[in-house]
Amino acid sequence: MNYKIKNICCIGAGFVGGPSMAVIASKCPNINVTVVDINEKRIEAWNDKNLSNLPIYEPGLDVLIKKCRDKNLFFKTNIEQAIFEADMIFLSVNTPTKQTGVGAGQALDLRWVEASARQISKFSTGNTIVVEKSTLPVRTAETVKSILISNKDSLDKKNMPNSKSFSVLSNPEFLAEGTSINDLENPDRVLIGGDDLKAIEALENIYLNWVEPQKILKTNLWSSELSKLTANAFLAQRISSINSISAICESTGADISDVAEAVGMDNRIGSNFLKAGPGFGGSCFKKDILNLVYLSNYYGLEEVASYWEKILDINNWQQKRISEIIVHKLFGTLSNKCIGILGFAFKANTNDTRESPAINICRDLIEEGAKLKIYDPKVNNLQIDMDLKNACISSNVEYSSDSWLVEDNLYKTANNSDALVVLTEWEEFANINWHEISCIMRSPSWLFDTRGITNKYIAKKNNINIWQVGV
Ligand code: NAD
Ligand code: UGA
Repeated sequence: MNYKIKNICCIGAGFVGGPSMAVIASKCPNINVTVVDINEKRIEAWNDKNLSNLPIYEPGLDVLIKKCRDKNLFFKTNIEQAIFEADMIFLSVNTPTKQTGVGAGQALDLRWVEASARQISKFSTGNTIVVEKSTLPVRTAETVKSILISNKDSLDKKNMPNSKSFSVLSNPEFLAEGTSINDLENPDRVLIGGDDLKAIEALENIYLNWVEPQKILKTNLWSSELSKLTANAFLAQRISSINSISAICESTGADISDVAEAVGMDNRIGSNFLKAGPGFGGSCFKKDILNLVYLSNYYGLEEVASYWEKILDINNWQQKRISEIIVHKLFGTLSNKCIGILGFAFKANTNDTRESPAINICRDLIEEGAKLKIYDPKVNNLQIDMDLKNACISSNVEYSSDSWLVEDNLYKTANNSDALVVLTEWEEFANINWHEISCIMRSPSWLFDTRGITNKYIAKKNNINIWQVGV
């Protein structure tokens, strides 16, 4: 079968669907790309004339949207029509951890993948390539294939004309939020898993518009699906490793940035992903490791499961240990103390707060009776309120209307605060004028820098007590 790709549909207009399709549209002006979603508000925001209202914040994204939107890039809610017209369909829907039933708390919830596959099965025409872009458990392509052909089977049984055919490929996404446009435009590799050589070639031809051929790796479906989970697990493992060493540094007088530099200069280890912090957040590391744990147990590999589970244990421990250090340094109690929280996103340059370490750390401080003032340059008030309410309710932590207040700048946050806690590595927090800040904080003033980005010497000079991770 020879495929000619003129129309692409992407199901899921989220952190992956939006940016990845914007890059395809920008690099392939002759292909029409339609991104669809069941979330009408999200699609409305993608179509907002004011580019600062796009649903996600990513450096460089607005430029691409401006260039391509309504030319060859469309955001729509008419999913059926987009599927009907598409030659190639990307699945970029969410795959969170399952909350109930078999595998609850570990397995990925594939209900959105299944629903999309059913719609494709129903509304597609001709020969359609279905590309898994969402992160999926190994062998999901098998499930997707059987759902896709289920409608074809029922048409066959009714002796109705039926010319549909499907080819399923795995093409996991490796972008990181905050750098996603650069990651998509200059990927380390593009991974394509599948067994239909012509379909693989059709997808490869799209990437060849901007990616060097030697960076396009082709494998079977299962290797591709497993490689994505493995890459995330390895990245998370490095963070838990460096965070575990940060605690040893604090007890011994070693400095984590020296240790990370010395270790990272070994070519075999490399210097990336060795920054100690408040633990990893984001929507994927935790859920993907939990899924790896689930799969290992499923295949009877209990030792493998418990090995990967430890990465999550250390991550939870790092968050807990930071809130305990804050309580301990502030004389064992936070009641009637005001703590300024600097940063709520799970990392800099994104407005995403999913699994942000800030959520658990803030919840623990609220439980200790602190009043929080929270400032993040890109996360909106409603998101912070919702995250903290959910965190308190699910852990039975009492809170009141004055447990936290969201501020819109650093100075209001620092004003009359007993302590500042840097939780996200926004550049603004690396360049704080400590002289000005020390004048408006309450004494004794404390700075807890969980990202190791502030200038501790200048802060100290201005009579601010400082604790920095791994020092
Ligand atoms: P997201 O929650 O931001 O977006 C998913 C979107 O899919 C939502 O807007 C949702 O409304 C929509 N959706 C769900 N079911 C639908 C349906 N049946 N029809 C139409 N729309 C539907 O999620 P995300 O962060 O973009 O992640 C998507 C997938 O990509 C996940 O599997 C994730 O693990 C993976 N991934 C994420 C990142 C990342 O940085 N966020 C990076 C690489 C891979
Ligand atoms: C991560 C991976 O880096 C991407 O390759 C992958 O595609 C994506 O997950 C996914 O599958 O969702 P992302 O979570 O967006 O991307 O961001 P990262 O840069 O990986 O950061 C994750 C967390 O680790 C953040 O909380 C960050 O602050 C923390 N981190 C990262 C550290 O604490 N130290 C580091 O050295 C690096």
